[in-house]
Amino acid sequence: MVSTSLSPLPVDVSRIRSPIQELQPQLVAWRRQLHQRPELGFRELLTAEFVSQKLTEWGIEHQTGIAQTGIVATISGRQPGRVLAIRADMDALPIQEENDVPYRSLHDGQMHACGHDGHVAIALGTAYYLSQHRQNFAGTVKIVFQPAEEGPGGAKPMVEAGVLTNPDVEAIIGLHLWNNLPLGTVGVRSGALMAAVESFRCTIFGQGGHGAMPHQTIDSIVVGSQIVNALQAIVARNVDPLESAVVSVGEFHAGTALNVIADTAKLSGTVRYFNPNLAGYFARRIEQIVAGICQSHGASYELNYWHLYPPVINDPQIAELVRSVASDVIETPVGVVPECQTMGGEDMSFFLEAVPGCYFFLGSANPSKNLAYPHHHPRFDFDETALSMGVEIFARCVEKFCH
Ligand code: NI
Repeated sequence: MVSTSLSPLPVDVSRIRSPIQELQPQLVAWRRQLHQRPELGFRELLTAEFVSQKLTEWGIEHQTGIAQTGIVATISGRQPGRVLAIRADMDALPIQEENDVPYRSLHDGQMHACGHDGHVAIALGTAYYLSQHRQNFAGTVKIVFQPAEEGPGGAKPMVEAGVLTNPDVEAIIGLHLWNNLPLGTVGVRSGALMAAVESFRCTIFGQGGHGAMPHQTIDSIVVGSQIVNALQAIVARNVDPLESAVVSVGEFHAGTALNVIADTAKLSGTVRYFNPNLAGYFARRIEQIVAGICQSHGASYELNYWHLYPPVINDPQIAELVRSVASDVIETPVGVVPECQTMGGEDMSFFLEAVPGCYFFLGSANPSKNLAYPHHHPRFDFDETALSMGVEIFARCVEKFCH
């Protein structure tokens, strides 16, 4: 715990903090066990077994096998009341770990390089704490362990499986350990926190030929290049400059020899934006541009477009709840970072489309311990001090919301 004060903690702070601080060695141990056995989306079998074993050990009612590997735990307080859900994602990434730590990944080519191992540990710690302190809240807490956040997306099938009903969830909260913020800070924002994620793939069919005789061909590289350039004008010239959006072409493959005009070119890219009113706009505009440029050159095309995740939009009231709780928990001068936003995406958005809630970032970087590599990097790791901070924020949110 980062603390700037040596004076005794107020009674209410220590009532919650002391038992959670005692959990810290367990939180680290669970996180490291999970870190050693990373599993990709919808294959979180060992992870789900680990979670289920712990919940069973603590006598916490739970359902397994939801949306394949998902789990929902239900913890009731001293009497019926409001229902709050807490969400943690469980999956790892297809990355070869380069950290030389005793708890490094034992699964070749797979790694918890985004911190979801920490999310599971925090959710487990919260479940344990709440189950031991049921007298401190009225109502029900559902803890949702979700598969496949990194893709193809486990949140949507969890919502479709009814995890937010019976009893009906009134609000949902979730966090991401965040190496873009230092340990001892929390990023909370009302409204859009993370972007919508869409992607496209396009094949341009021209006509190949001799590099010295272009008049006999339809050059798919020239057509493709004009498309790449024109796509940049969507954000520059079509989207309101007060909105934020990105169109990035990440792949452009064409050609086999320097003196041969390529008959086909393939390009693909990603689209990001915050405003839900823009949903559908980019798909239409990209098709117009591709169709227009291809037509003007006599080329044809095939275009596929995917709407993957909607933007992560936080409810103002629940964001305020998290903000007020976080400022009690985090005692550094920086504390709560209010205008934190990223063009990264998250399928937490599907839960937030179904019920109001708040997703927030828990600062976990610590350059002095060499724990500051970005997410999805083969050397990603985070400061585990953040684990008990996460549990404390969740526990306090429960007590404040389900009072
Ligand atoms: Ni992540």
